Amino acid sequence: MPTYQYPKSQELFRRAAGVIPGGIYGHFSPAPLVPPSAYPFFTAKAEGARFRDVDGNEFIDYMCAYGPMVMGYGAAHVEEAAAAQRRLGDCTTGAAPVMVELAEVLVDMMPAADWAFFAKNGADVTNFAIMIARDATGRSKIVMIEGGYHGTAGWMQSPGHHGVTDEDQHHVVRLPWNDVAAFEAVLDRYPNDVAAFIATPYHIPTFADSQMPAEGYWEKIQALCRRHHVVLIVDDIRQGFRLDMAGSSAYFGFTPDLTCLGCVMANGYPISALVGCEALKKSATRVCHTGSTWFQAVPMAAAKANLVKMGEINAPQVMLTRGALLFDAMVNIARTYGYDLKVTGAPSMPYVRITNDESLMLHQDWCAECTRRGAYFTPHHNWFISAAHTDADIQQTLETVDEAFSAIKSKYGTDFQN
Ligand SMILES: Cc1ncc(COP(=O)(O)O)c(C=O)c1O
Repeated sequence: MPTYQYPKSQELFRRAAGVIPGGIYGHFSPAPLVPPSAYPFFTAKAEGARFRDVDGNEFIDYMCAYGPMVMGYGAAHVEEAAAAQRRLGDCTTGAAPVMVELAEVLVDMMPAADWAFFAKNGADVTNFAIMIARDATGRSKIVMIEGGYHGTAGWMQSPGHHGVTDEDQHHVVRLPWNDVAAFEAVLDRYPNDVAAFIATPYHIPTFADSQMPAEGYWEKIQALCRRHHVVLIVDDIRQGFRLDMAGSSAYFGFTPDLTCLGCVMANGYPISALVGCEALKKSATRVCHTGSTWFQAVPMAAAKANLVKMGEINAPQVMLTRGALLFDAMVNIARTYGYDLKVTGAPSMPYVRITNDESLMLHQDWCAECTRRGAYFTPHHNWFISAAHTDADIQQTLETVDEAFSAIKSKYGTDFQN
């Protein structure tokens, strides 16, 4: 069967490189897609769990726009709510009532939410969370996890990255994931100067396996935060509503002071949220944080409709079940070809890797072979499954996976040496 070609994508990218830094920047950059010739760069149309690129190739999408698509591209409940609000007004003088209704939905749904604040990007609210923690505690230091991602502001990026200064990093302390003793040591080293502990509900580094919290990890971190008056922030931007509609902290059995949300809230409409406990409402009121388009009502209406619908169908459970079905079957197919496919993290957003070659070259080639046949897989980042992936999507994906294993087996055998 002929595999996909991308001449129009490549021509558009050539034009893009002339007028846009990097051609396509940020997480949509083709840089980590290896080999780039196996991937489309531009999407023409998307519907349900599939998209069509500018060359007319169709893909079952396992990146879901890197997370935001959760109920299917163009999902009717979201588009109808957005259209109804658009007829009334979107970016207007004065907030729309739907802002209050959305806040009430989140407060009703999440035990850790007594209030909600809305912005656009995830990084808007991770930054706001840190400012609130500093205001509430009068302290400076932020404890985060090595390899954790909270956005791209100076303090959020790792030291040494372009454009990041020593001053940006001055108050940031990084710890290994699942290391409670390291947190205790930081609290000893900086008595009364740690404002916040911020981490994702489980660890999701790029180019590496996801890591679940060890038994009792969150319980111990929560206890230490309470004892030392440190604000506990969960960055639930990526995992949020993929494990539990009550938030990932409810799934893992703890209660953060602040929870950062975004990504799936509105099925792709631009909105993020910070929700928090009553004790931090005063700081959330007095820390100055706002934006020109943050009160847009259309994304709020989309988010409200989407969250309600996700709750009605228990979308996290749908994704977890479908993901488990798909990835268990994939592991079995891999085994029949003599390959070990390792799946880590939640089945609704797993990190998948062929372990036979630690350099990842074999894995990259397999992802490329799948993508060239219509199952869009990236080799460096966790994948996403949506509630819109159908049984037919899963069946077709498994056939593609089988063909791609056959292709790499004829190329490399199982004793891959780079
Ligand atoms: C865990 C986590 N935190 C923060 C962010 C930043 O969100 P945004 O890209 O919307 O600023 C992301 C984005 O992927 C994320 O996955």
